[in-house]
Amino acid sequence: MTGRKEITGPLPPGATIGILGGGQLGRMLAMAAARLGLKTHIYSDEAAPCAFQVADARTQGAYDDVRALEKFAAACDVVTFEFENVPDATAEYLAAHVAIAPPPRALSVSQDRVIEKSFIAKLGIAVAPFENVESADDARKAFANIGAKGAILKTRRLGYDGKGQIKVTSADDAARAFETLAAPSILEGFVDFAFEVSAVAARARDGGFALFDIPRNAHENHILKRSTVPAGITQAMTEDAKRIARSIAEALEYVGVLAVEMFATHDHKLIVNEIAPRVHNSGHWTIEACIVSQFEQHIRAVAGWTLGDGSRHSDAVMENIIGPEHDEWAALAAKPAGLHLYGKGEARAGRKMGHITSLSPKS
Ligand SMILES: Nc1ncnc2c1ncn2[C@@H]1O[C@H](COP(=O)(O)OP(=O)(O)O)[C@@H](O)[C@H]1O
Ligand SMILES: [Mg+2]
Repeated sequence: MTGRKEITGPLPPGATIGILGGGQLGRMLAMAAARLGLKTHIYSDEAAPCAFQVADARTQGAYDDVRALEKFAAACDVVTFEFENVPDATAEYLAAHVAIAPPPRALSVSQDRVIEKSFIAKLGIAVAPFENVESADDARKAFANIGAKGAILKTRRLGYDGKGQIKVTSADDAARAFETLAAPSILEGFVDFAFEVSAVAARARDGGFALFDIPRNAHENHILKRSTVPAGITQAMTEDAKRIARSIAEALEYVGVLAVEMFATHDHKLIVNEIAPRVHNSGHWTIEACIVSQFEQHIRAVAGWTLGDGSRHSDAVMENIIGPEHDEWAALAAKPAGLHLYGKGEARAGRKMGHITSLSPKS
């Protein structure tokens, strides 16, 4: 292929957005693109991922299959991602051949918890105390330094939904946890938070920035169960969340939707937990409760459009439908709420099968 395709203005309706990854986030991105008359081409290493059902074109290929990636890049006007663990080489290869957003640097920063926390802390934003752990001895020392309130040992890379994490209450515990994880890790001091919130923000190619209202997030078994808006936080915390999300987005020269997971402390402070360089489960409520959803904002940003109006017209509660809860689909469909089923096959325990959003008048 010759030269890299650049985006010089907004892509017109009919243009094709490539999406790497075929899960429910890719599926909802494709549906939002379709609303704007834009086409999507999904690339996944799975045979029948749920996003394939709603896309205009699909490629099944390994993420390191250079020939398949080259054909994919040639077929798309711009490429984006729906998951952050895109291999570096894949992102670099694509970036050399086609316009890409968010920038690959956002992937490499968020893929490694030590790099991520160091990057955020350098911006002057509060994070949990943390230390890099490369040996059982490191784990012991780190616990002695930052474990006064307990700690969590996490693998630096590839953790999600609480996987690759062990709570530890002593230096010996921390050393054992390192032997169990058997991977480069990070020890984080335990944050005694009041509740969790997230900032779901969008940044456009023209630098336009928008923040959705902040949801309060409740987890069950380390998986997001419920997001509630409004979150019941102070105006000062809302301003803080906006400043945090904006400074991260600007530092990364970000284009697209970005989520920042945060702890809200008992004394009304925000501590950043992690960033997700993509649309986020805690932003699903925006489909029903905002004129323009997180999925549409992402598509707009990636396609070089100006951002839409993401203001919220209703209060909302979004609940995930996880594993066998999916069997209750008929009862859920009878509720006066926005039901989303992702068209996945087997309802394995812990698998996100759908979500449902209830609205009430804006408080
Ligand atoms: N340092 C910490 N202190 C207290 N709770 C934590 C800490 N880190 C993570 N948790 C809890 O574990 C959950 C999952 O951790 P997170 O780092 O977000 O990993 P994942 O990639 O699995 O989402 C968080 O949402 C929070 O509830
Ligand atoms: Mg998380």
